Amino acid sequence: MMRVLGIETSCDETAAAVIGCTPQAVGAVPAGRILSNIVRSQLEEHAAYGGVVPELAARAHLGHLDHIIAKAVAEAGMRLDELDAVAATAGPGLVGGVLVGLTTAKAIASALGKPLVAVNHLEAHALTARLTDGLAFPYLLLLVSGGHSQFVLVRGVGDYARWGSTIDDALGEAFDKVAKLLGLGIPGGPAVEREAMRGDALRFAFPRPLLHEDRLDFSFSGLKTAVRLAAEARAPLSDQDVADICASFQRTVAIIVATRARAAIARFRAALPGQPVRLVVAGGVAANREIGAALREAASQEGAELVVPPMALCTDNGVMVAWAGAERLLQGAADGMDVVARPRWPLDSPDMALPGGAIAHG
Ligand code: KG4
Ligand code: ZN
Repeated sequence: MMRVLGIETSCDETAAAVIGCTPQAVGAVPAGRILSNIVRSQLEEHAAYGGVVPELAARAHLGHLDHIIAKAVAEAGMRLDELDAVAATAGPGLVGGVLVGLTTAKAIASALGKPLVAVNHLEAHALTARLTDGLAFPYLLLLVSGGHSQFVLVRGVGDYARWGSTIDDALGEAFDKVAKLLGLGIPGGPAVEREAMRGDALRFAFPRPLLHEDRLDFSFSGLKTAVRLAAEARAPLSDQDVADICASFQRTVAIIVATRARAAIARFRAALPGQPVRLVVAGGVAANREIGAALREAASQEGAELVVPPMALCTDNGVMVAWAGAERLLQGAADGMDVVARPRWPLDSPDMALPGGAIAHG
């Protein structure tokens, strides 16, 4: 069993984990085990500012990462020098934080003389379902987090096609902005969901941007503006107004996401006839129960299987980074000490491909 340390510092979670990965026959999904999973959220550092402050995030990562790594290795019941490889998120994300994690990973890998893998954060989200659910390629991924909203066809390790993304705000970002303008604090998603539970989802008819267009992209900024205008028109808001706005916003978003999911499933079926259709949902917004229910209904009506990894592995964590690192290593991909941190790094960029054009389609 190969033991891999994974380090995640691209946003506001300082995370480290150790996984064990055992290769299987060619074409089969490797067997994985989570040996430890330590996550420290920076909510407190950023709460006063109503959002993540990049410089504060980088400093907090720097202050805590060593300790988090030591804890992850200890909880895995091993010593640092028993690791077989070190993986760290190298982007996309807030570059100060990414630099902290990647530089630390380089230092550990070079001190131990073990391979380094620079992991794309989106690939880490994309491959998590293989660890948790043993999912074979190909499958469809819906990634909905604070920084990303995209449909991705996952064909193999390093082999992705982005079918749709957001043309403005990410979905989690829209939740956070709505929460902020209603004075609900951070993180916004859970706060909006909590308010929505006692609100009337039919009170406000918010716009559903792009809904009738034949594309898989999202747009949430017009919706966010409509929410702001509704709130301003009724200020000062009563508790019931706030709840109704949240419920109406959340219902609108659930309808948009489910409608897009149906279209993505249809596209998958047309592009890959005869393949079982699996839709994997990842990212913090996957925690939202109304969106989850709408996706479950859409998938079941379209004859697709919906796969939602445990929530702790849908939000940012070190396990997914370690797993993606292991999957790449098994395909012969490792990185040199000259690898750089990348604030932007789309999943379908050419350097995601495995060395020598190898294909891993198990
Ligand atoms: O994946 P994640 O933990 O971090 C990254 O952005 O990478 O996602 C965080 C996002 C935040 O925008 C948060 O408001 C949103 O996920 N979120 C939710 C819920 N829980 C977290 N959005 C809607 N409903 C929720 N229950
Ligand atoms: Zn993420």
